[in-house]
Amino acid sequence: MSAQKDDVVLRRATDASWLPLALKHFDEVLIDHAHCEKKAAANALSLLQAYPEVKGLPAQMARLAREESAHLAKVLQIMEKRGLVLGKDLGDPYAQGLQKVMRHPSHHRRLDRFLVAGIIESRSHERLQLLADGLTDAPLKRFYEELAKSEDGHQRLFLRLAREVAQEDEVQGRLGELLEVEAKLIETLPVRVAIH
Ligand SMILES: [Fe+2]
Ligand SMILES: [Fe+2]
Repeated sequence: MSAQKDDVVLRRATDASWLPLALKHFDEVLIDHAHCEKKAAANALSLLQAYPEVKGLPAQMARLAREESAHLAKVLQIMEKRGLVLGKDLGDPYAQGLQKVMRHPSHHRRLDRFLVAGIIESRSHERLQLLADGLTDAPLKRFYEELAKSEDGHQRLFLRLAREVAQEDEVQGRLGELLEVEAKLIETLPVRVAIH
């Protein structure tokens, strides 16, 4: 899908070495993917808990948590068929790098949480689409196609929420800063056998 005005548009594409590595170690990527969906569901409920005052947010985050939980359940089902177990979440330097630059005063933090969530969704969309294009197993390919489309909708949802709490120039200004940080992370972090 081509980028629209309402999209979180990433500034740096994933390194070409990522997809072959991810396909070669697909089982490990699946396990990391399950952790990502779990964190996305948890983050939706955490945002609902923190910002019930934002127009439309409670219902949207309730639906998002349900959708991300459904993604998680499906990934767990695929893992089970392959004899894989989830194990402990070892953390993700990419998401941690973005969390580190989120500001603390509450008004700024709220905007940053929406924008960072949108950026992570946008990167997830890119990576899941790469997997969909690279996988040869038809049901898996379809599954990743579907998920990529869904994450694309989520980046747009978070950008809309950002616009509920800040003026357009503030949204675009801060989004630009965070996209620069994200591009630097993509450039400098080692390519991992993981979604990010
Ligand atoms: Fe998801
Ligand atoms: Fe998502």
